[in-house]
Amino acid sequence: MTDAVAPKLKPMILVYCREGFEAEAGQELAAMVVQVLGLQRQPLPVTVANSAFAMLPLASTNELMALRRKLPVKSLVFARQLAFGFGPLDLGDARDRAAPIAAAALESIFPAAGIQYNRLVVTYPDNNDGKELTRFSKLVHPALTKALGKAGMLTKNGAKGLPTFNVFFFDRAKQAMLTWIDPGNSSPWIDGVARLKLPPSAPSRSTLKLEEAFHIFMTKGQRDHLLRPGLTAVDLGASPGGWTWQLIQREMFVTAVDNGKMDDALMATGMVNHLSVDAFHYRPKSPVDWLICDVVEQPSRVAKLVAHWIGEGLCKNAMVNLKLPMKQRRDEVLRCLDIIGAANDQWYLAARQLYHDRREVTVFASSNMD
Ligand SMILES: C[S@@+](CC[C@H](N)C(=O)[O-])C[C@H]1O[C@@H](n2cnc3c(N)ncnc32)[C@H](O)[C@@H]1O
Repeated sequence: MTDAVAPKLKPMILVYCREGFEAEAGQELAAMVVQVLGLQRQPLPVTVANSAFAMLPLASTNELMALRRKLPVKSLVFARQLAFGFGPLDLGDARDRAAPIAAAALESIFPAAGIQYNRLVVTYPDNNDGKELTRFSKLVHPALTKALGKAGMLTKNGAKGLPTFNVFFFDRAKQAMLTWIDPGNSSPWIDGVARLKLPPSAPSRSTLKLEEAFHIFMTKGQRDHLLRPGLTAVDLGASPGGWTWQLIQREMFVTAVDNGKMDDALMATGMVNHLSVDAFHYRPKSPVDWLICDVVEQPSRVAKLVAHWIGEGLCKNAMVNLKLPMKQRRDEVLRCLDIIGAANDQWYLAARQLYHDRREVTVFASSNMD
């Protein structure tokens, strides 16, 4: 296939994250790996400030394959995407990058996983360095597809259910990670960048946050069930109405709580009841299907409020944004999840720093997840 000599690459887990959150992403990945594998040693994540990704080198291919089965992407808060594989492959200034990548893939990834891939994607970090690789990745894709296809690694008709072969370039494409992304254990957006269009009638950009959250935390079937017409919701910190808008689109009834003004068109639907009261004091007269909350406040205060609603049976599901202006951001998230989780240990609980989240994370809690 090629004469290029394949170097020995290390088994690794790769997570994509928001620029500036590499330490959090690396620390939580290492902590989950210790927990899932029951390790005695502390694996050390490799992170570079503002690189928008973190890597965790593993001791063996056996560990990698065990983690593939046991490490759910839903257990990670700061990871936008989860990939398994080998690296880093040092490409230097090689003009032909396809040949060394195909050779290394045959040497490490293919024998380790022993599987075929449905397609090839080329990804890069979501930061300024990555932007410079947009054109390069389009140029290199056909050559790589040809080389990997020739080696028998890619199926011809892109069979569903198979993993995606993901070549992640970084360091100005001088280095690459050769990985795969499993379809049932990954973000629906291959590089974790949720490409959603801002609907023209939505009152604020925040609407994209809630839309992304619905895709990240729920399957289509769960969305159809949990967000069906006629359900009721309370939106705390609702003005001008981006989150409320998402629910009104789904023909739900919303009580919007905020001293600020709500969007006129939204109010004209007749589906919104606007109350100018304090989110921390308001309680519904009877339980609602959803609590959604985007109030700008200390995260632990918001977590206690949500825990109260859950504990008192005031809602069946909750989607809440926690703002993280402080330094110890991972500790704060864990503290808040403990507070919310303690309200009812039968509830499903997950959190994620979404693509549309800045210095914040979104938490989903539900009594209804099967
Ligand atoms: C980030 S904005 C919400 C944006 C909204 N989710 C959207 O999509 O348009 C936060 C809102 O919380 C409201 N807020 C802050 N503290 C509040 C409180 N104690 N009670 C009610 N609303 C509050 C603010 O007035 C502000 O409108």
